[in-house]
Formats: sequence, structure tokens, C-alpha cells
Amino acid sequence: MINVTKTYLPNIEKYKNYIDKIYKTGWVTNDGPLVRELEEKLAKYLGVKNIVLVANGTSALEIAYRTLELDGFAITTPFSFVATTSSLVTNGILPIFADIDKDTLCIEPKNIEKSITPHTKAIVPVHIFGNVCDIESIQNIAYEYNLKVIYDASHAFGIKYKGESVLNYGDISTLSFHATKLFHTIEGGALIINDDKLVEKARYLRNFGIENAESIPELGTNAKMNEFEAAMGLCMLDEIDNIISERKKIVQYYFDNTEQSLQIPKWNRDATMNYGYFPVVFDTEDRLLNKIELMNKKNIFPRRYFYPSLDTLHYIEPKQYMPVSRDISKRILALPLYTDLDREVQDIIINIINSNF
Ligand SMILES: Cc1ncc(COP(=O)(O)O)c(C=O)c1O
Repeated sequence: MINVTKTYLPNIEKYKNYIDKIYKTGWVTNDGPLVRELEEKLAKYLGVKNIVLVANGTSALEIAYRTLELDGFAITTPFSFVATTSSLVTNGILPIFADIDKDTLCIEPKNIEKSITPHTKAIVPVHIFGNVCDIESIQNIAYEYNLKVIYDASHAFGIKYKGESVLNYGDISTLSFHATKLFHTIEGGALIINDDKLVEKARYLRNFGIENAESIPELGTNAKMNEFEAAMGLCMLDEIDNIISERKKIVQYYFDNTEQSLQIPKWNRDATMNYGYFPVVFDTEDRLLNKIELMNKKNIFPRRYFYPSLDTLHYIEPKQYMPVSRDISKRILALPLYTDLDREVQDIIINIINSNF
């Protein structure tokens, strides 16, 4: 069975060495030495100042909102994984959608500006599939209207924008290190925080709001990464450059062989790629459904990333209608992509994509 992703498992001997260390110390969670080591190494690898590791990408978003004490309304994209929106709702913030650009699939800054009201406190854009948003325009809007910016950068591991880590933009960027992601810690996530003063606060928030044995300064949650997850991250980090270059070859083969008429998201020209996803947009939903059926018959299971459009979520009131996102989400498919994807399987996928059905 060929799925859209396959979890990369790094060198087992290396992982066992870390597990031996954990068994020796008996320190399995609660800001352990491996979590700290991973924080240091990741900050260096990514080129960021402050990184706070947490239990998953969803809690990274939630802690970001709490660190910035957000309430009211936040403008966000309707074209993303559901956690971008649901994390706002569960924190009492109303998501106001601004539709996406049909070519880049990222939130369109003109639509952000149109949606601002006196209740708006923040913008939550997503670098979707690792494609960097229109950062300058978003920054200008945030400055003019005094809004916080939290980038859901779950797909943007390692991406550089104008030569610098894309994670350094906005007030906070968040990452997901779920097992399906390019870089993973089984389950995990991170906050990249620009303001040094907010880093400690985020650390307290992930640990029940506790500062030390005597002091609980914040209303926190439990979003700690454990040592087994950090060990996985340390092993992944040693292999990540190789993983990215293997994925690049697979993406290049798709690029070179899928039909020219297929719409592939238009990439930000000032940004690098990390080869995390290979999404293709068909001309109609019928064609997409037909291609899925043909692939399923060959035991290949691509994913409708991202479907449905988040403005259709039943729990969002008032109802909002985002035509571009709804249209794209019906026609977009993420093709299987992982380091050891067989060329023969890729050829089957490419033949189905290129056929005239
Ligand atoms: C864009 C986006 N935001 C948030 C998340 C949530 O991350 P996690 O699954 O680690 O909670 C994911 C992935 O799962 C995602 O793709």
C-alpha cells in the first residue's frame, strides 16, 4: 500500500544509543537533557534565536496565542489543515477567513485588509506546503493596524526567505514535527519566538504555567515534549540534509514528467523549497476523483490536502464563504512523496496523472 507519506525512521543504532542514555538517567520527560540539546541544535540548524519545543504543532499554535494574550478576532486562511483554525476556536478567538490567492494558495493580503475590524487582534497565515506567504505585505498590514502575526509554519521547516530563516518573521512562527512531516519527532512541535522577553512565558505555559517549586505565574497547559521524542529529533537532524536531497530528486521527477497543463502552486521566488509536499491541481473535481480511483485500484493512496475548505466547518459562526479556497480544495491532490518511493510506483502515478480520463 502506497500512502501519501511514509514516516522516515533514522538509523536505529543511533536511536538505541539515546534510549540507553535515557535508561541510565531515568529522565524521561519534564524539560530533560535531550529536549534541551535538540532545542540548541535546532536553533543553530534553522538559524533562529529562540526555539521552544512542545508536544505537537497544535499546542505550538495554542501556546503562541496564549503567549501573546490574544482574544477577539484573528484573520486566517481557509486553506490549511484544520488545526490552524480549530486551535483559534478552542482558545476563544474567532477565526475570520481571508481567501487565498489562486496561484500561490497562500492567504491574499488584499483580502486580509478588507476583513479587518476593531475586534481584529492578529493575523494567522500559513506557509502552505512550505510556500512562503507575501511576508512584506502582511508585515505592512500588521504594522498599520497594530496586529500580531503568528505564522503557522508547520510545513516550512528549513525554508529560507531572502537568505534568512522564514521562521524569523512575524511575532511567533510555529512548526509541527508530526511523524508525517519532513522533519519529525514522532509527535512534536515548536515555537520560534522573536521577542526574548516572551520565551520564558511560553516555557511556563507548556508546563502548567509553573516557573519553579514555589511559583506558578501563568495559566498553563501540559504540552511538554518527552525525551524519547527528542531523541528521535536528534537522530532525524543528523540525516535531514540527506532526506531533503533525496526528496528533491523525487519532486524533480514529478515536475519533469507530469503534464504541463497541471497547475502546481506558484512558488515564492525569494524562498527556497524543502520538498515537503507535491500538490497538483486538476481542472475539475471529477477529474481528481477519477485519478484517485485509478490510483486506489493500484493500491496507491494520495491525499486530498487540504479538503474541505475550512470555511465549511460547522462550528464556525458566523458562516463565511471563501470561493477560491473552496474551489481549489475540491481540485487539489498531494501525491505520494517520501525518500524511498520507488521509481516504478512514481511512473504508475505519473501515467495516471497524464492519462486523458
Ligand atoms: C498547517 C498545519 N498546522 C497545524 C498542524 C498541526 O500539527 P500537529 O499534527 O503536530 O498537531 C498541521 C499538521 O498536522 C499542519 O499541517
